[in-house]
Amino acid sequence: MPTRVEMEKIVSLCRRRGFIFPGSEIYGGLSSCWDYGPLGVELKQNIKQAWWRAVVQERDDMVGMDASILMHPQTWVASGHLEGFSDPLVECKSCHLRWRNDDLEGNNCPSCGGELTEPHLFNLMFKTFMGPIEEEANVVYLRPETAQGMFVNFQNVLNTTRKRLPFGIAQIGKAFRNEITTGNFIFRCREFEQMEIEFFVKPETDKEWFNYWLEERLNWYVKLGIKKENLRLRQHTKEELAHYARECYDIDYLFPMGWAELEGIANRGDFDLVQHAKYSGKSLNYLDEETKEHITPYIIEPSAGVDRSALAFLCDAYDEEPDQEEIRVLLHLHPALAPIKVAVLPLSRREKLVTVAKQIYADLRQQWMVNYDDAQSIGRRYRRQDEIGTPFCVTVDFQSLEDEQVTIRERDTMNQIRVPIGELKTTLAAKLSGERFDTQPLWTTKG
Ligand code: GAP
Repeated sequence: MPTRVEMEKIVSLCRRRGFIFPGSEIYGGLSSCWDYGPLGVELKQNIKQAWWRAVVQERDDMVGMDASILMHPQTWVASGHLEGFSDPLVECKSCHLRWRNDDLEGNNCPSCGGELTEPHLFNLMFKTFMGPIEEEANVVYLRPETAQGMFVNFQNVLNTTRKRLPFGIAQIGKAFRNEITTGNFIFRCREFEQMEIEFFVKPETDKEWFNYWLEERLNWYVKLGIKKENLRLRQHTKEELAHYARECYDIDYLFPMGWAELEGIANRGDFDLVQHAKYSGKSLNYLDEETKEHITPYIIEPSAGVDRSALAFLCDAYDEEPDQEEIRVLLHLHPALAPIKVAVLPLSRREKLVTVAKQIYADLRQQWMVNYDDAQSIGRRYRRQDEIGTPFCVTVDFQSLEDEQVTIRERDTMNQIRVPIGELKTTLAAKLSGERFDTQPLWTTKG
């Protein structure tokens, strides 16, 4: 049976320990905007780094880029966003489904029959003005997805990298949507971060690559510790397919509020390159050297959210264990994602111990994010680190002064080993770089 943690516990932990705060909190907050605190920013960086490593660093057929958030307004005409995001919308007051007003036959919600709000033109894109004059001619938009930056740079990347099909471009960056329905903590924000891949393929190979990316992306989550039973693939019905998509699957995660989209993987066909070629007047073709034909590649797009990934990783890692009279709260975060990799804990504040502990701390932090904690009992300090998912604690005790050894204590098992200080760094490096301790079988779409 899939397990689920209550959202309140995650929100409370995030706030208490400095992962995530409500945005602009001292002014009463700003709806659906969140601020990542000292631990949250580390978690987010680690997620992005793990993604970049898997999809760019370790691959021959991918390159990265970082496009501007503000793009030429024609981008959004070509992409269909300007038209598609400017419908008269009504919202059901009971089930909160949103409907295009001009598609409705009656006055009530077609799904549950509930009362509807007054219609209003609702554009999901945030508008702003470029330059000192606020007039229609100067309107630009905050991008609602990072994808378009990669489509409009297709030729630039092709020309400068000499990549041949199939190849992809990856990008991580902020996106903005003036969402009508928000909520569920960082699940749906108005400002969020995406990690997107646009993978360009020969049209006749689209199915093969689509399946490849489904499997590849599912396994990325599994390798980073998400339990397989909390993930599923859901195919989009014809009615819900986006205007650009030929086929789309969501990777759903069993969030506290139920199954919901973690990542979308779409076959966008040639829609984007054709549209941008049409609206820009520039060729976005590819010369197939075998057939000497100019073709428009198809695009397979795995599109993930950093914030939703952070939420999924936190929910999946959250655990409570009975511990004498108390409860041990811990995050089983994969070492690659843990905000703090090691905590150095001197058993007491005696000068001799502190000197050794501070030396170890200074040495380890050259390589990793490390905490130094000498406040309260050792038991309490272990609990504090467990709660933020620190994989290893290094304890310096009086024995260390004599035998030059320290204790490494592992978060999940609470097992302890004693190692010479001279071997501490290599021992920790080996333990931190390992796969998840309880490696689970990977996902396969075949059978
Ligand atoms: N380029 C395709 C695209 O943007 P999408 O399904 O609209 O597709 C992709 O978004 C991913 O971005 C989602 O799976 C989700 O992880 C994230 N995302 C989308 N809207 C979001 C929001 N309002 N808040 C947080 N994450 C969001």
